[in-house]
Amino acid sequence: MVRTLTLLDTTIGKKAVMAITGLVLYGFVIVHMLGNLQVFLGPAQLNKYAETLKGTPPVLWGARGVLLASVALHVWSAVSLIGGTSEARKVDYKIRKYGATNGAALSMRYGGFALLAFILFHLAHFTAPGLGLGIYKHSHTDVYANVVSSFSTWWVVAIYLVAQVFLGLHLYHGSWSLLQTLGLSHPRYNRVRNLLPQALGIGVAGGNILIALSVFAGVVR
Ligand code: HEM
Repeated sequence: MVRTLTLLDTTIGKKAVMAITGLVLYGFVIVHMLGNLQVFLGPAQLNKYAETLKGTPPVLWGARGVLLASVALHVWSAVSLIGGTSEARKVDYKIRKYGATNGAALSMRYGGFALLAFILFHLAHFTAPGLGLGIYKHSHTDVYANVVSSFSTWWVVAIYLVAQVFLGLHLYHGSWSLLQTLGLSHPRYNRVRNLLPQALGIGVAGGNILIALSVFAGVVR
């Protein structure tokens, strides 16, 4: 029997899923970074913030559910779009020349999987199952102490720094192509289309790097 094609079977449907879930995750990384910057305001402020977030379990678990579903759907759409591209070209190119667009696409693919690996590391490190991967003594209430003791270890800082480079590039290329898809590839909007993705990528990655390095340098302790 011939199956009817649904919107999710089409490239446009998968791209829409990727764009919507990408926007959800974008919002999360911006809010998460801004929230974490409260480490500069001292332990009482950061711990109060963390306590507030965990204060209403239905809201916390609802938000976690949305995040988890967004990551899963974002990865699913990426994998099936990549699969669709190679399916369409059964015989590989003899010579591959990577121009700017292909370079960006490759960085989205490999950088995306590197980010997924980082998120799993980050969750095991700061959240579940509350053991801090054995790197530091995890506390369920003192998030400030968790952050400070984590970023006192050089290789943990190194992992975070490398991940932020991937994150910054992913946010930059992702928002650039989203704005392009939305039709902003007009000379009148070119400045915004280039500057906004750069500002967001550098802003989020830079804020996170600032936290890790400030702890490592002893500015935050
Ligand atoms: C220097 C950078 C970062 C710091 C200091 C940081 C800190 C933290 C901390 C302390 C927690 C646990 C909060 C708690 O126990 O209440 C957490 C959770 C989390 N972080 Fe980060 N984070 C950073 C970057 C990132 C990035 C770049 C991502 C995503 C790409 C991310 C995704 C998450 C997620 C998904 C959670 C789980 C949230 C939950 O428990 O529901 N974090 N982070």
